[in-house]
Amino acid sequence: MSDSNWQARLLAPTDPVEVMKQKAALRALEQVSSGMKLGLGTGSTARYFVDGLGAKVADGLQVICVPTSEATRAQAESLNIPLAELGDLQRLDLTVDGADEMDAQLRLVKGGGGALLREKIVAAASDAMIVIADDSKLVENLGAFALPVEVNMFAHQATAQAIADVLRQTGNAGEVSLRAALPGGAEAFVTDGGHYIYDCHLRQINNIEQLAAALLAVPGVVEHGLFLGYATAAVLAGSDGLQEVGKL
Ligand code: A5P
Repeated sequence: MSDSNWQARLLAPTDPVEVMKQKAALRALEQVSSGMKLGLGTGSTARYFVDGLGAKVADGLQVICVPTSEATRAQAESLNIPLAELGDLQRLDLTVDGADEMDAQLRLVKGGGGALLREKIVAAASDAMIVIADDSKLVENLGAFALPVEVNMFAHQATAQAIADVLRQTGNAGEVSLRAALPGGAEAFVTDGGHYIYDCHLRQINNIEQLAAALLAVPGVVEHGLFLGYATAAVLAGSDGLQEVGKL
């Protein structure tokens, strides 16, 4: 299988940021070899990875994958990428996923696309996780991007109040808002798992580990978008080329 064959079949984006995202995705794809068990992330950057993977699978690469969302499942199925249940595979060699924010310690905010629960379950089952993103996602302090918290639908307003209390108690005062299905719309966004998402608008996240633990302790909170200790490396694409953080 020659590299040019499968690459020639990929769509070439023209928008400069999309070009960067594809470059990061294709660099991560270089880490994939036949026989690997993979977690497939969700979002516009992960989409480029799945496209590339599909092209390589069509050329004979043998992998088995677990998608982190119904959207990624549909994309992978359309590309004939072999899929399995995480429960049947137990451990994965590698997950490749995007992020909404990342700091120099590879701590992430995820869930902008609403897939944070499955993304975290899959990341936790992976021996390695490579984050792929354009370099605008690398920040000094996490928090400019609103932190998503996935909650059970039952009494979700009470859960939101408890989340606001936790924010205050951990030095993170900010607005908490129910995510809408469409920007400004009246209907709430519902996750693949049948939950709502509250976005915490904090500007800067303080006491990150303390906040992460306190959020999980709120009854009704299913998961939050702080990914601490999961990412092992990142490929960030900028106008000057690729930057790698951690060990690929
Ligand atoms: C999905 O829920 C998110 O965690 C995505 O991984 C994150 O939003 C990155 O998406 P983009 O690659 O589209 O920026």
